[in-house]
Amino acid sequence: MKKTLSLLLALLLAAGLSLPALAENLPMLQLSVEGGSLTLTLEDNSAARSLLSQLPLTLTFEDYNGTEKIAYPPEGLDLSDAPASCDPDVGTLAYYAPWGNLCIFYQDFRYSDGLVPLGKLEGDMALLTAGTFTATLGEATENHTHSSTLIAYFTRLDNTEATLDEIIAGGGPYGSLGNTWADRDVDAIASASLTVMGDRVLGNTQAIAEMIQAETGGDLFSIQTSQSYPVYYDDLIEQGADENGNEARPPLKSSVANMDQYDTVFLGFPDWWYDMPMAVCHFLEAYDFTGKTVIPFVTSASSGFAGSTRRMQELLADANFIEEGLEVRMYDVANAQTKVHDWLVELGIVP
Ligand SMILES: Cc1cc2nc3c(=O)[nH]c(=O)nc-3n(C[C@H](O)[C@H](O)[C@H](O)COP(=O)(O)O)c2cc1C
Repeated sequence: MKKTLSLLLALLLAAGLSLPALAENLPMLQLSVEGGSLTLTLEDNSAARSLLSQLPLTLTFEDYNGTEKIAYPPEGLDLSDAPASCDPDVGTLAYYAPWGNLCIFYQDFRYSDGLVPLGKLEGDMALLTAGTFTATLGEATENHTHSSTLIAYFTRLDNTEATLDEIIAGGGPYGSLGNTWADRDVDAIASASLTVMGDRVLGNTQAIAEMIQAETGGDLFSIQTSQSYPVYYDDLIEQGADENGNEARPPLKSSVANMDQYDTVFLGFPDWWYDMPMAVCHFLEAYDFTGKTVIPFVTSASSGFAGSTRRMQELLADANFIEEGLEVRMYDVANAQTKVHDWLVELGIVP
């Protein structure tokens, strides 16, 4: 049955909540670069505290490995009471102890020894894409309060262990299905879920989330599961079908620290089996959305929201759920900025 469903989908396409130890009693920091700034929530460990004692710092960051930006603080950080390793995501600020450098991850990367977690950057990661840039790290200024808009999204790219190199080696035209159905060995990773924007490779839903962010200035949050999804596309398709069939609730890796401050939540996800990924259901069940305005957006091969609308109506019964969500086909993601803008104008969110 699963195989039949997989085949059907192939044909269609061919056409416990664990919280990171983010510190609540440490000040919110701000990383300022040309064009804007991102907020930084520190981890509660000795390395993060010794970085804090050196602030404000102005540093020159350089690209490393197409994955992270690195810079050297004037003094080494105190490792006496800090984790000796971590599994960085997009937005992780870490300290690579063997070399003594700070690292800002703008691509997901694997679990690494010697990588000490320092905190989580939130905001427009596109501000950090220049090859080399100068940034000032200091306490958040009064006028850099959090936005009241959250853009929460799920994307396959943030939920697999694949590195950018592996994804590119996977080949296939970006934004299309690639040829993974025919030969998984040759084309290990499908590119149905990738969008190239400038020199960055983004998940399709992430790309739309960033377009919304550019228009609204909201805070971005990537919904991620504790367990990585399969890198092979056909295995992922099967797992998605299983999870949907079983009404699974995959444990989530991190949580929105301050959901109370948001009155508008954009919720983005890829269509998985004419529904939302079950991790997104889990996200909706993990918070109280009463009184919040929730505006959905979806990327898909062709189905759009499909059955997810009914699910959102049920799960968001106490919220102001806006049914006029945005549907973007995966082939159109890279050029969707105007569509995103027009939609936000129609909703009265931007002038
Ligand atoms: C498990 C799985 C199930 C999918 N089911 C559908 C579907 O039912 N209808 C559809 O049009 N696209 C479907 N797709 C395609 C994705 O919705 C599409 O590639 C999306 O843009 C991926 O977004 P992402 O890169 O943010 O993960 C599915 C993809 C996966 C991995």
